[in-house]
Amino acid sequence: MNEIRVGILGLGTIGIGAARILIEQQQLITRRLGKQVRLVAAADRILDRDFGLDLSGVRLTDDASDIVTADDIDVVIELIGGYEPARTFVVTALEHGKHVVTANKALIAKHGEELFPIADEKGLQIGFEAAVGGGIPCMKALREGLAANTILSIHGILNGTCNFILTKMENEGADYGDVLKEAQALGYAEADPTFDVEGIDTAHKLSILAAMAFGSKIKFDEVFTEGISRITAADIVAAQELGYRIKLPGTAKPHGENVSHGGCEKVEMRVHPTLVPLDSQLAQVSDSYNAVLISGDFVEHTMYFGRGAGERPTASAVIADVMDIASGFPDGIRHLAPPMGFVQSARTEVPTLPMADVECEYYLRFMVQDEPGVIASITAVLADHRISLEAVSQKERHKTQAVPVVMLTHETTEGNMQAAISRILALPNINDDLLILRKESFGA
Ligand code: HSE
Repeated sequence: MNEIRVGILGLGTIGIGAARILIEQQQLITRRLGKQVRLVAAADRILDRDFGLDLSGVRLTDDASDIVTADDIDVVIELIGGYEPARTFVVTALEHGKHVVTANKALIAKHGEELFPIADEKGLQIGFEAAVGGGIPCMKALREGLAANTILSIHGILNGTCNFILTKMENEGADYGDVLKEAQALGYAEADPTFDVEGIDTAHKLSILAAMAFGSKIKFDEVFTEGISRITAADIVAAQELGYRIKLPGTAKPHGENVSHGGCEKVEMRVHPTLVPLDSQLAQVSDSYNAVLISGDFVEHTMYFGRGAGERPTASAVIADVMDIASGFPDGIRHLAPPMGFVQSARTEVPTLPMADVECEYYLRFMVQDEPGVIASITAVLADHRISLEAVSQKERHKTQAVPVVMLTHETTEGNMQAAISRILALPNINDDLLILRKESFGA
């Protein structure tokens, strides 16, 4: 078949970007594929507006059901976002024999395990490269380029909004709230920005990457998740003085006896503000850029970098997925790599490593009354828990107000650290306004 017919659900920022590529890059796409990809229809709730694009010749509707059931559409691009009604439309599209491409990480993270079996049974493809890392083809790399490897770790700066906020706070000493507004105006942030700043968007993306890396089922609800909303400009400066930059990476690692042979008994998944060495590669990733470090047993360290959000980069990944499907259409679809990188029947339930068992190094920022013996009382508890210190700093001196005391520790388990912290917070002269960050070297 020399023509693949596409319908788009949602003409928001990414939807317009996808339509723009299909229209403006039509010749290039045809030359690359040897067949045509044609935008047949698009649905949006509000059609009476200027899309900034000539959509004449495209059937416009305010009812997405028309597209997911239409006889003249082969691939549905879902760009509504969120859990529902996106899930219902995607299920209906699959049931009507349509391939699906989506940029919706929330949908894949939460409902992927319902969608993949439906697609598999029907011989259909679900493409979701745009869901993680925006325009960066990191999942194609993981699924295809690194397929011969046991994946040993993933560290990803996966949320452009948070990275933009942290960068601006550091470079301009800007206020958190103002920078968030700027990120929203630039079209980086989710409709509900708490998904960005509280780490939920990164957790969605990390849960997808982890399952793809380790052949496990997606367990978004089990990702340990903390966001950046409690980070202050003072923490950014304190971290920098200690040789670190604060980032919000997602980290995933396999655990078990047999990891070196592809075995995985438990999956570690966590998202939290992290101190990364100033000279590490991830520390250089600034503004709304994303980067994913993936390490495999044969390939060693690899890194994927690029724009993680915004109209054009995200639409670039969406249309690449459409082109992948088009290249094998209609008979060659089974030759594409399975969406999650392992055949559906080989994907297993793997328990998540409890956060209490995860080993980290820590940045602790206490607010204490500047009295004799306060630091000694903290370090005594840490010593009792066999937690060794790498650095301690207290700059300010104030007789009546609390002052910050920053400590860097060597490695210990989260469970041990939390037990020590509860004892420390019960000591006199220590406020409960404590910030715990974790630090990591990333091995690259
Ligand atoms: N809100 C997301 C981000 C958009 O800031 O990265 C891309 O998923």
